[in-house]
Amino acid sequence: MSGAEATAAGHLEGDAAVEMGVAGGAAADSDLTAQEVLVLDFGGQYSQLIARRVRECGVYSELLPHDISLDALRERKPNGIILSGGPASVYADDAPELRPELLELGVPVMGICYGMQAMALKLGGRVEQAPVGEFGRSNLHVREHGTLLRDLPDEQQCWMSHRDTVYEPPPGFVALASSDESPVAAFESAERQLYGIQFHPEVVHTPYGTDVLKRFLYDVCGADGLWSAASVIDEQIARIREQVGDGKVICGLSGGVDSSVAALLVHKAVGDQLTCVFVDHGMMRKNEAEQVVAVFRDNFHVPLIHVDAADIFLQRLEGVTDPEQKRKTIGDQFIRTFEAEASTLDAKFLVQGTLYSDVIESGAGHGAAMIKSHHNVGGLPEDMDFSLVEPLRWLFKDEVRAVGAELGMAENLVWRQPFPGPGLAIRIVGGEVNRERLDVVREADAILQDEIRKAGLYRELWQSFCVLPAIKSVGVQGDERSYAYPIVIRAVTSDDAMTADWARLPYDLLETVSKRLINEIRGVNRVALDISSKPPATIEWE
Ligand code: XMP
Repeated sequence: MSGAEATAAGHLEGDAAVEMGVAGGAAADSDLTAQEVLVLDFGGQYSQLIARRVRECGVYSELLPHDISLDALRERKPNGIILSGGPASVYADDAPELRPELLELGVPVMGICYGMQAMALKLGGRVEQAPVGEFGRSNLHVREHGTLLRDLPDEQQCWMSHRDTVYEPPPGFVALASSDESPVAAFESAERQLYGIQFHPEVVHTPYGTDVLKRFLYDVCGADGLWSAASVIDEQIARIREQVGDGKVICGLSGGVDSSVAALLVHKAVGDQLTCVFVDHGMMRKNEAEQVVAVFRDNFHVPLIHVDAADIFLQRLEGVTDPEQKRKTIGDQFIRTFEAEASTLDAKFLVQGTLYSDVIESGAGHGAAMIKSHHNVGGLPEDMDFSLVEPLRWLFKDEVRAVGAELGMAENLVWRQPFPGPGLAIRIVGGEVNRERLDVVREADAILQDEIRKAGLYRELWQSFCVLPAIKSVGVQGDERSYAYPIVIRAVTSDDAMTADWARLPYDLLETVSKRLINEIRGVNRVALDISSKPPATIEWE
């Protein structure tokens, strides 16, 4: 899983679920909408983002491997196809192949960066490696507007990342624009419905990028732009009903956005056939457990079993300091507790909050190096025989929030920052997790969140939290020498948790937080700020 959503259900997601061989509940393809524009992935770092942007334009999109069979593509009858960028040179031996048949399906195709170069090369244009690459901001000089650049300024900024360059478009194509280093930065053949742009329309540094996408989606592909995540709720509900019939369903609920929205959707579909199990490991944020119970049981009337398992978790964590050991212990206990409850319920189906980015990541199989084991902590044992219900597997995170809001979830729940499955345990570093330290870091977290919300910054930050290094340092409080814990403030901005930057929190805010942490929490006498980005650091300290 992406880990962006860190939930108790997260323990059950992603690779672990695949490994344990639970039956996949949902088909690989979707027919969520009559109109769709597909993105074929040639390995670019922005491929997922292209699909997200297309959806933001109100057109359903999925990211598929560049070598997907032509029959499969034809079967889907897409309104258009986008070829993504990619890191390879079109002249590299192992360059991902663009099959010419793809350009003859009778479906409009737009190539971006590598996609454009590959298209140019296949159709007889001139593509060469330029003496200098073009990376970052550049300027686009429009000569002909054509369809793709219609009504857009003659001069505009764009974002580039390439070395191979198109020098001449294929015969019959019109060169629409050049850039500082690219003689042909956009071309089109309206007749053949083929389009290419060297720049990246999907990143914010291309201010007219969305307009270019819209020209392609609406004017070329004829899409109506009416798709939205919320508009597919009814369809999802019908699917869930069909899959589940009158069977019983179980869901591991954590209060995180993904598992919450998944649970609500399933509840809307099959009502009290669903039982949620909330394994409370005692390492949640302040008042979080009570909130989960209040929201689901009292507000939405979802059958909920709240298992207060703090004692057993803490017992098993005694003396554990190694981060991986900590995660494994928590993951293992989580499963034991969950299993014990599940065995009383006789459920055939298990709800998982798998997101589309998880699906892409596991399908892509690029096998990024494992930095932390967190995304498949424990996994489910082989003999747990559930069919999976994954109502979010076609949705990106923002879309899940939109669905949550549509289902009536309160804003503070919909916009909750991600929180790791093992909870506050991985924010106590360099020493064992115990009640005293949990109380300190929980209180610290509550103070920080309170001030960040008051400053109106909560939504802007990907995550903000406190870390407790299990060391003590000397201070002087009320004329007395103190020997107490430091608290480290960690706040980051990020799009997807893969990379992150430390947030430039205002000094005044930091001062208020620092004062409150030291004044209000016994056992804290020092506050530090983490100013590292990811990479080379990670977001969490463990
Ligand atoms: P890192 O620390 O690897 O975190 O930069 C990336 C994202 O994953 C979350 N995270 C976890 N989620 N179990 C989870 O479910 C874990 O053990 C875990 N560790 C980190 C982290 O909060 C961030 O959003």
